[in-house]
Amino acid sequence: MGQMLRPWKTILNLEIGADKAVFQQIADGLIAEIIKGRLKPGMSLPGSRILAEDIGLNRKTVVLAYEQLIAEGWLETVYKKGTFVSEKLPIQKTRRKQRNEESISSVKNFSFTAYNEGIPANIPTDVPLIVFNDGLPDVKLAPLDELARAYKRIFQQKARWRMLGYANERGEERLRIALSMMLSMDRALNFNVNQICITRGSQMALYLTAQVLVKPGDFVAIENPGYRPAFDVFKHAGAIMLPVGLDEQGIDVKQLEELCKSQAIKAVYVTPHHQFPTTVSMKVDRRLQLLNLSNQYGFAIIEDDYDHDYHFGSRSLQPLASYANAHNVIYISSLSKLIAPAVRVGYVAGPESFIDSLAALRMTIDRQGDPVMEHAVAELMEEGLVNKHAKKALGIYRERRAMMVKYLDLYMKEVADYELPEGGLAFWLVFKKPVNTIQLAAQLLNNGVQVISTERFSFDEQPLNALRLGYASLEATEMERGLRLIVASLIPARY
Ligand SMILES: Cc1ncc(COP(=O)(O)O)c(C=O)c1O
Repeated sequence: MGQMLRPWKTILNLEIGADKAVFQQIADGLIAEIIKGRLKPGMSLPGSRILAEDIGLNRKTVVLAYEQLIAEGWLETVYKKGTFVSEKLPIQKTRRKQRNEESISSVKNFSFTAYNEGIPANIPTDVPLIVFNDGLPDVKLAPLDELARAYKRIFQQKARWRMLGYANERGEERLRIALSMMLSMDRALNFNVNQICITRGSQMALYLTAQVLVKPGDFVAIENPGYRPAFDVFKHAGAIMLPVGLDEQGIDVKQLEELCKSQAIKAVYVTPHHQFPTTVSMKVDRRLQLLNLSNQYGFAIIEDDYDHDYHFGSRSLQPLASYANAHNVIYISSLSKLIAPAVRVGYVAGPESFIDSLAALRMTIDRQGDPVMEHAVAELMEEGLVNKHAKKALGIYRERRAMMVKYLDLYMKEVADYELPEGGLAFWLVFKKPVNTIQLAAQLLNNGVQVISTERFSFDEQPLNALRLGYASLEATEMERGLRLIVASLIPARY
């Protein structure tokens, strides 16, 4: 916790007006700096006397501002040490580097690139939390016994030693055959085994795709709000990202078309089945418009079909990649939602020569996947157990979705707009009045409820007036209590 030696007058840039109490203006000024990331969790604040002198105000006014921020969870006092920005705030401790910003660190003898993106771990805490996650599956439902049995059988095979050497960098052929059949039967996709590369989750598939496809300075259009780990991947590839807005069907193709007229767009990243984070599904007309644009302007579509199986309508929508005129689509999917996130099996499918190149790159960072796991998963797929599990899980999630909407209607109807999502494992709520969602997340954490901080979703990292609430792992009592606490926290969050 470093003491800040900065002139507070310039930091706060206060222009005290008459519209609200002065202490409130100081408090709001400090909150704005915390949200902007200039005051980071754990930073020390000056004593009230010093700050009062520095900004030329009465000490009591500063004390009042500090007291309010402490009560709201923005600041905390440490006995005999002073006042600090709360460590519990779900905000990045260091500001993300802006696109193309130099980011070189050094130790004594060498310099290195300092990466600071990545997927945040769940905030560790001893208090039992009600976690509204990103929309993750309930890992307690994962077919563990079946997987363990398949593992055991594999290790008992006569030729088990074959699995212990170097293997194909695209993944075990047996699993690629099983995936190719599943894609053809369930998703109308025609990819042969050489057009599929198995990766460790879709994150690696996205990374490799971006590296192979995008050259530094290329324009890549992304959904905004969207999936931050995908933004990070394109940033690493040196892309210039162009955020495109959304409507009730996902990416706004009119906006995209306007961009295409002025820039040579290399690729568009989309989550058409259940847009992340808003959950909306792209219907056939919009899909055709997007494919037509791709063919007209020659950009690749990176289709992230991350939770294909959890669709509650009569059937899942067919992927963009399955359409007859899908000439430029790279298809990415994963078993993270279908089996469990820790089973790091994802895959990318596309034109064979593209997959050749991607597989060659993969070898440079990861010689091969996990052949034993891949055989075990292939075995579950061949026996129909993955399908069986998906059906069972879908039934359970359908019930939980109904439960969630029941409690949303009970507690949230007045304060937020939401739709029953056609698929996926999360709800998207947009507040009817402005809500400070960072403050809300911080307050909820103090009450044992965790929600995802919404600035993760927006391209410019500004908080949104919305919440994404994953429901798949929650019991009815947790949903009820969690939603009740969210509504209760809206009041002190100046709703
Ligand atoms: C948009 C999106 N893509 C991909 C994934 C899956 O990532 P992985 O397969 O690396 O676990 C997720 C999981 O949360 C996701 O939300």
